[in-house]
Amino acid sequence: MKIPGHVAIIMDGNGRWAQQRGLPRIQGHIEGSKATKRAVLACDDIGVKYCSVYAFSVENWKRPVQEVEGLMTLIEKALRTEIDELHEKNCRFIASGRLEELPETLQQAFQEGRERTAGNTGMTLNVLINYGGRAEIADAAKRLARKAIAGELDLETIDEDMIGQALYSPEVPDPDIVVRPGGEFRISNFLLWEVAYSEFVVLPVLWPDFRREHLVEAISIYNSRERRFGGLVRDEDDRQL
Ligand code: IPE
Ligand code: IPE
Ligand code: MG
Repeated sequence: MKIPGHVAIIMDGNGRWAQQRGLPRIQGHIEGSKATKRAVLACDDIGVKYCSVYAFSVENWKRPVQEVEGLMTLIEKALRTEIDELHEKNCRFIASGRLEELPETLQQAFQEGRERTAGNTGMTLNVLINYGGRAEIADAAKRLARKAIAGELDLETIDEDMIGQALYSPEVPDPDIVVRPGGEFRISNFLLWEVAYSEFVVLPVLWPDFRREHLVEAISIYNSRERRFGGLVRDEDDRQL
C-alpha cells in the first residue's frame, strides 16, 4: 500500500456526537481531542511525513462564546500535555493560521512547542487554527503587495510558486489526501490553494469515534484512486510503461 506523504484531516462531527448522547457540545470536543491524539499517533506509526489537522476555522468564531472559549482551553491543554510525547517521537510541531488573533497563552504554547521540536526529523504535525483558505490567500497577497511597494519584488515575477511560498507554512507540501469524517461533502474553507490535486475521502464516522482503522480505510481508498494531475500518466512510477 502506498502511504500518502501528507494526510490532511477536517476533524468534524464533535457536536453531533455529543447531541446524539444528550451531552453538551464541549463534551464532543473533549472526546474529539482524544481522537486527534489517536489519529496523529497512527499517522506517525504508519509512516506519514506530514499530518495537518483542521482544529478551528476563521468562521468558527461565529459559535457561542462558551464553545469557542472551551475549544481554545482544550487545544492549549492538549498541546501542553502531548508535546512531550510528540518530541520523544521525533515529531515537529507547527501551527498555521492567523495565530496573532489567538489568546496570548495559546500563542505562547504554540511558540514553545514549535521551538522545542524544530530540530526533529520525523513527522510534522501541522495544526490549523484560526485558519481559513481564503484568509490565507488574502494574507499571502498582502505580503507580496507589501514587498512590491517596498521595491523588493517585481510584480511581473509573481507566479504560483511565489504565492505558494507566501502562504502560512510553505515548507509543508500539498496534501495527498484530505480525509473528512462526519459525512459532509464540502471543503469548508480548508487549504483551498493546497488541495488543487488532493484526493478527497469522506467517511461517515463522527470525529470522536475515529480510530486507526478509519485512517487505514481512508488510505486504502486513496490507493484505489488514479491520480493524473491533469495529464494522462498515473504517477511517476508508471511513466516508464
Ligand atoms: C468539529 O466538530 C470541531 C470544530 C469545528 C471546532 P463540530 O463542532 O463542527 O461538530 P458538528 O459538525 O457540529 O457535528
Ligand atoms: C470545519 O468544520 C472546520 C473544522 C473542522 C475546524 P465546520 O463544522 O466548521 O464546517 P461546516 O460549518 O459544517 O461547513
Ligand atoms: Mg461541523
